[in-house]
Amino acid sequence: MKITAFAATNSTQSINLELVKSALGNLQEHDIQVLDLNDFEMPIYSPERNEKGIPEKALTFNQILKESDALIIGLAEHNGTFSTAFKNIFDWGSRADKALFQQKPMLLLSTSPGPRGGQFVMESAKTIFPFFGGNIASNFSLPSFQENFKEGNIVNANLQLEFEARLNDFKSMLHQN
Ligand SMILES: Cc1cc2nc3c(=O)[nH]c(=O)nc-3n(C[C@H](O)[C@H](O)[C@H](O)COP(=O)(O)O)c2cc1C
Repeated sequence: MKITAFAATNSTQSINLELVKSALGNLQEHDIQVLDLNDFEMPIYSPERNEKGIPEKALTFNQILKESDALIIGLAEHNGTFSTAFKNIFDWGSRADKALFQQKPMLLLSTSPGPRGGQFVMESAKTIFPFFGGNIASNFSLPSFQENFKEGNIVNANLQLEFEARLNDFKSMLHQN
């Protein structure tokens, strides 16, 4: 299966990417591609720009999702919601195709340095993505990243067990598709 994964941030030091990579370590039998949202930087969405046409990068982003069998997204939380970098791609992509997530089974992850681990952005994604073709198979938020994640692994035993359970939920959804 072709799994497309990315951290929904333009940080080159993304902690969400580290969490995404840790999930990918358990999915190595699949064909995995990891996107960098910096490759999809576009002018900030505006209706006037939209009238002139949708940027090629938004169409490419949508096409990549379309050609994938499953998606893993690590949601960075900025002021309780999506990072601007991701939101811009999401906005452009949704103007090209409202169902941009294409009903592909999706694993949503989030983490942050704080004790909520990005749960606000996770709740937003869980509420909003289904309106855009999002088929959320499973989700997991890791609190207090710096304490709970070391050298590529979750070091808190209870959180690691929960992470594995959520990953297994995602894997069983993959087998149904
Ligand atoms: C503008 C800004 C707003 C932020 N707001 C939040 C927030 O609301 N909740 C939170 O837990 N962390 C917040 N943070 C901290 C981010 O979670 C932290 O920078 C994290 O590393 C972002 O994920 P990333 O490394 O994958 O980009 C914020 C950071 C920035 C730069």
